[in-house]
Amino acid sequence: MSKAKISLFACLFLTAALILFYANGSIELKVYEKSVKNVEKVVEPEIIEDFELKTWNRSKSIGFLHCGKCGGTSMDRTLSPIVRSLSERKDDKYIGNMHYDWSYFELFEKDSVEPIILLRDPISRSVSNYHFKKTIPGVANSKQPTYVKFMASSFDTFLEQPEVMVDFAHLWIDSFAGLSMIDGLMSDDYYGTSTRKIYKDDRAKMQQIFWERELMRLNATWSLNLAADRLEKMGWFGILEKLEDSEILLSKYIGKTIKLSHANKTPDRTGHENLASEQVLHKLNALKPMNLWLYEFANRLFDARVSFLKTGIYQRPEKKPMPEMSCTCTRLIIYCPGGELDFWVSKEAPAGYEESFWNYLQQLGVKIPNKTGSTFQLEFPTF
Ligand SMILES: *[C@@H]1O[C@H](CO)[C@@H](O)[C@H](O)[C@H]1NC(C)=O
Ligand SMILES: *[C@@H]1O[C@H](CO)[C@@H](O)[C@H](O)[C@H]1NC(C)=O
Ligand SMILES: *[C@@H]1O[C@H](CO)[C@@H](O)[C@H](O)[C@H]1NC(C)=O
Repeated sequence: MSKAKISLFACLFLTAALILFYANGSIELKVYEKSVKNVEKVVEPEIIEDFELKTWNRSKSIGFLHCGKCGGTSMDRTLSPIVRSLSERKDDKYIGNMHYDWSYFELFEKDSVEPIILLRDPISRSVSNYHFKKTIPGVANSKQPTYVKFMASSFDTFLEQPEVMVDFAHLWIDSFAGLSMIDGLMSDDYYGTSTRKIYKDDRAKMQQIFWERELMRLNATWSLNLAADRLEKMGWFGILEKLEDSEILLSKYIGKTIKLSHANKTPDRTGHENLASEQVLHKLNALKPMNLWLYEFANRLFDARVSFLKTGIYQRPEKKPMPEMSCTCTRLIIYCPGGELDFWVSKEAPAGYEESFWNYLQQLGVKIPNKTGSTFQLEFPTF
């Protein structure tokens, strides 16, 4: 065959390959779009024949990922003495009694910590945390202007004052109901993170890393896949709304019957049920697309484990398509693009902060507005 013929064939072959590639690509795209619109339509779960529930390896530490207002205090109280009595380790038997995230456990010897977590519905967690916050003397008696405003506001008016929301970001921001605990992206020196430990003497650097982490967690594909995979490998995770089954799975995992009494309930401290208006619930839903996705996945994963205990059959749940990002927020930027420009940036944002926010969003493929200003019209999008 002549050189010309060979290159002609090569050309034809390449063209065909390219056509096939693009054709397939667009088919996949269509399927994806369809499944986004029709979220309920998920693939039948796959049956895993040799599935087994993991049990705690007693020569490893148990590391408890404790998201605030997720029932963690009673976990610490109940689990810590049991783990300490059964552990075959000399030290670091139970790493808990603080709000640790995954990054903290990475400071230990590789594979020496088994992380566990108790999850809670992200919306109830926020509502409970809001009411709980108001009972804390350091908050209630503070003379700081934003704290005074926080104490004077209802939940509804709180979510209309962005400068107050900044100082209480953990009450509303996405990912604080477990997602960032599992990803290891908690970004506040209140939490037990590797950043806090490593940069304890360099607060400027610590803050800078926290800002970077806040952006990283807006990458839903990365954040959610990582968290879902880690959850699947976790020996135990519980769901506060399914406490009895959580206890059964925990007892299996630890190798001893465990009852989780639910201490530190916020209604006990405030003397009334934790309530929030329809409007507040709607806003919280818009603010938390990622953690809601994870919580939904966690529930199906949890049910699959419970059902395995009962039937011996394990059906591995599928991940649903990534959520629609109704809001992408950091502590200093609130961006909930609805019909209008729903955007606000804090005066505290350092130079270049806003620019890196938009740059990052652009890299993520998020459509960003042409003109941004510091207007605040929290018209939360409907979705
Ligand atoms: C438990 O962990 C140790 C290392 O910490 C390992 O050597 C051992 O094989 C593990 N046991 C089981 C049953 O996996
Ligand atoms: C977001 O995450 C995906 C998946 O891990 C990764 O391929 C992509 O580069 C990330 N995007 C940015 C802007 O970091
Ligand atoms: C942004 O600008 C482009 C072209 O300049 C225009 O087509 C688009 O409608 C604008 N978008 C908004 C939200 O104003």
